Amino acid sequence: MPAGETPATIAPPVTRQQFRDAMACLGAAVNIVTTDGPAGRHGFTASAVCSVTDSPPTLLVCLNKSSSAASAVHANGVICVNTLAAGHEELSNLFGGRTPPEERFARGQWCASATGAPMLAGAVVAFDCKIVRTVEVGTHDVLFCEVVGLAEGGAREGLIYFSRRYHTLPGAPEA
Ligand SMILES: Cc1cc2nc3c(=O)[nH]c(=O)nc-3n(C[C@H](O)[C@H](O)[C@H](O)COP(=O)(O)O)c2cc1C
Repeated sequence: MPAGETPATIAPPVTRQQFRDAMACLGAAVNIVTTDGPAGRHGFTASAVCSVTDSPPTLLVCLNKSSSAASAVHANGVICVNTLAAGHEELSNLFGGRTPPEERFARGQWCASATGAPMLAGAVVAFDCKIVRTVEVGTHDVLFCEVVGLAEGGAREGLIYFSRRYHTLPGAPEA
């Protein structure tokens, strides 16, 4: 559609596929969300992550209830949101696929954050969090997470998922 023309609207009700196709137009950062604790180590790729408030610093993560990571995330009550950098596409696919948890962590360099959740060396940034509230909506749990620690990984170029593909984002020029 040429710029300036009236957008083509889709009649209600919006189907699941129409919603998914529309969401593919909404570019988002790619993160690996990890957990560790009594229920063991696990992690999954997530683009459904956003800020809620800075007082107290809180973000939300949407977790599919059928994900193999779900029970460990809920039982441990802590997560680390590792925001991926350019070059992390394969790692993202590994954590976004049907791979056993230990095979996922065989790639990349991981250390324990203060909460105990795995933190990725070379991420753009990592948010170490305690889950303070969970709200169930349809197929997903929305995790409200208080950020108790932060780490900048030093990566300069970001990674976003847009139009069902990865794209890299240039960082700020060196001062
Ligand atoms: C780019 C990308 C973004 C994703 N975003 C989310 C997300 O926000 N929430 C979620 O629950 N799953 C998301 N997924 C899917 C999970 O990573 C994936 O279902 C999970 O790790 C695999 O589930 P399994 O362990 O049950 O095989 C995403 C996958 C990819 C590749």
